[in-house]
Amino acid sequence: MSENDKEQQDLHSDEGKERNAWGHIVRGLWRSPLGVLGISITTISITLMVVGLIAEILGLFHNPYSSLFTYLVLPGAMVLGLLLIPLAAYLRRRQWHKYGISRDHLKINLSNHKHRRFLIGLLVLSVINVSILIIIAYEGYHFTDSAFFCGVVCHQVMDPEYTAYQRSPHSRVKCVECHIGPGAQFFVRAKISGLRQVVAVLTDSYRRPIPAPVHELRPARDTCENCHWPEKFAGKKVKTFVSFTNDDQENPETNEIALHIGGHNPVTDKFEGIHWHVSNDVEVYYLATDEKRTNIPRVRVKRADGTEDEFVKADGEEHAAEGEHQEWRRMDCIDCHNRPTHIYDQADERIDFGLLSKRINPKIEGIREDSLKTVTSKYATREEAQEKIGPDLMALQQQRNPDQAKMYEKDIVQAGEYLVEIYLNNVWPETAVDWGTYNSHLGHDLADEGFGCWRCHDEEHENENGDTISQDCALCHDEP
Ligand code: HEC
Ligand code: HEC
Ligand code: HEC
Ligand code: HEC
Ligand code: HEC
Repeated sequence: MSENDKEQQDLHSDEGKERNAWGHIVRGLWRSPLGVLGISITTISITLMVVGLIAEILGLFHNPYSSLFTYLVLPGAMVLGLLLIPLAAYLRRRQWHKYGISRDHLKINLSNHKHRRFLIGLLVLSVINVSILIIIAYEGYHFTDSAFFCGVVCHQVMDPEYTAYQRSPHSRVKCVECHIGPGAQFFVRAKISGLRQVVAVLTDSYRRPIPAPVHELRPARDTCENCHWPEKFAGKKVKTFVSFTNDDQENPETNEIALHIGGHNPVTDKFEGIHWHVSNDVEVYYLATDEKRTNIPRVRVKRADGTEDEFVKADGEEHAAEGEHQEWRRMDCIDCHNRPTHIYDQADERIDFGLLSKRINPKIEGIREDSLKTVTSKYATREEAQEKIGPDLMALQQQRNPDQAKMYEKDIVQAGEYLVEIYLNNVWPETAVDWGTYNSHLGHDLADEGFGCWRCHDEEHENENGDTISQDCALCHDEP
């Protein structure tokens, strides 16, 4: 202690008592169980948070569950601890009042250097704490943008989407790159709707299945086009479709088509083909009168040469049914690519793939029909399906032909395992996601159910001259 300090202390000798009172409060914190709890929680969580942060920055380990702990659980604990400390101090202070110490003695006195020291200490600690919290909040914000956070933290709700996503071409693209996109406005909207969703999950009031299409999805121009753009598409793409029938499980029917992917034609410098709808100077608008956007009575076009047209379906339902939603929408990527990453299968396609890859032995009579029947049966839970699919398939086969079932027992068990696998990739009874809950618009397989290109390309939408939106097979694909 310097001469000066001593002098000051002497000058204010009566401050001794006052100082003691204040000091007692601080020290008293240690004696109040609440205070000890607050101080320990804060100290432990700060220490673990700093350790977790350093470990993650140095790349010592990178485990999403530890991030969950570092960025969500520990900061919560730290804030709780920090709230407990002043609460304990306040309660302690009230006790001092009860024991008759005058309020004056409990005032903070800035001309008292001990008080100043205490305050400066408090300030320094707060700055350190707040800095750590800011770093954690920044890192934690990135963490809440990760696919792991979206897909796993809301595990049950998003399990179908996350599972399908993981085996899709976009499994390295973060959820937020399609669902939120860049910019502060959508960020704020997304976090607000995120909060609403968390409430819906906590109160168990979310819709099952989660409805598609997502009406407030960010326009694809701002998301997909960060990575794919119409000028980039060109030429044709050959695709092969293989299918079997119940009568012929061994010789596949093969369809090979060359899709006119189109987009920009470098020779004519024009936009054409399938990606014409989303090319620069073209605008296609359509009126949908149901939530799923499958019923389209009107289509408007503005072509690159400036001409405009409206196609109307003569007997189309012009108005939305009660409670349905009606909207004019500018066509973009997701009106065709509505399943770019949450890609669910058709049961028959998966079974045909099993026959082709021989995971289902095609020599077993009736196995295609029985597999389809089993895998589309209703099970109450995924666990139940996992247990029962194998035995159910076996039972059907035994009914069909006991001798054959015996002869191919091993193959039928193996087929059962394959069925469990495809079931678990596509069906979630708990959230009402079944085969065909989420259909794709890419193509015209499901035209009868209102999905795909033939919603407009049906030769029934006519303009004033009686021209229609063409269903000519050669418009979209030819034989390679
Ligand atoms: C490549 C872009 C893309 C990525 C990446 C992506 N989504 Fe989607 N998601 C979509 C589109 C497009 C739709 C809208 C489908 C529709 O309108 O029919 C959608 C719909 C959904 C839906 C509504 C239900 C449904 O299946 O239509 C949920 C829930 C969802 N996504 C969650 C996620 C989660 C969780 C992730 C990350 C694990 C993710 N998405 C990643 C494009 C994406
Ligand atoms: C962050 C970049 C990114 C975004 C955003 C993105 N994609 Fe992709 N997309 C990719 C990558 C990478 C691939 C895989 C390319 C490959 O496998 O060769 C891909 C592949 C595709 C394919 C081809 C799939 C196949 O079966 O080969 C389609 C179709 C597609 N994306 C559509 C979309 C649509 C629609 C959106 C918006 C909803 C979108 N993408 C958003 C990066 C992106
Ligand atoms: C009119 C419907 C339609 C629209 C609109 C559309 N696409 Fe496509 N797209 C298709 C079809 C059909 C294919 C070929 C299908 C297949 O590969 O199975 C395709 C293929 C693709 C591919 C793969 C190309 C390749 O060579 O393999 C990508 C990437 C893609 N689209 C992205 C987009 C993006 C991004 C948008 C929006 C800017 C968009 N598409 C708009 C129908 C459409
Ligand atoms: C919302 C309605 C709508 C849907 C859905 C739709 N189209 Fe179209 N399509 C149109 C209209 C309108 C035209 C232009 C007709 C005209 O100009 O006379 C068109 C034109 C085309 C053309 C010719 C482009 C050119 O070169 O001029 C192709 C190819 C095409 N569509 C393919 C598809 C494919 C493939 C799908 C499904 C994956 C699809 N369309 C879905 C409305 C639609
Ligand atoms: C508006 C565009 C369009 C028109 C018109 C069209 N198709 Fe297609 N077709 C598609 C697209 C897109 C796919 C690819 C779907 C996919 O990638 O899964 C397809 C796929 C197919 C397939 C393979 C699918 C399978 O499951 O085997 C066949 C076969 C086919 N089309 C036949 C036809 C015939 C026949 C016509 C004429 C009556 C026709 N298409 C008219 C767009 C069209």
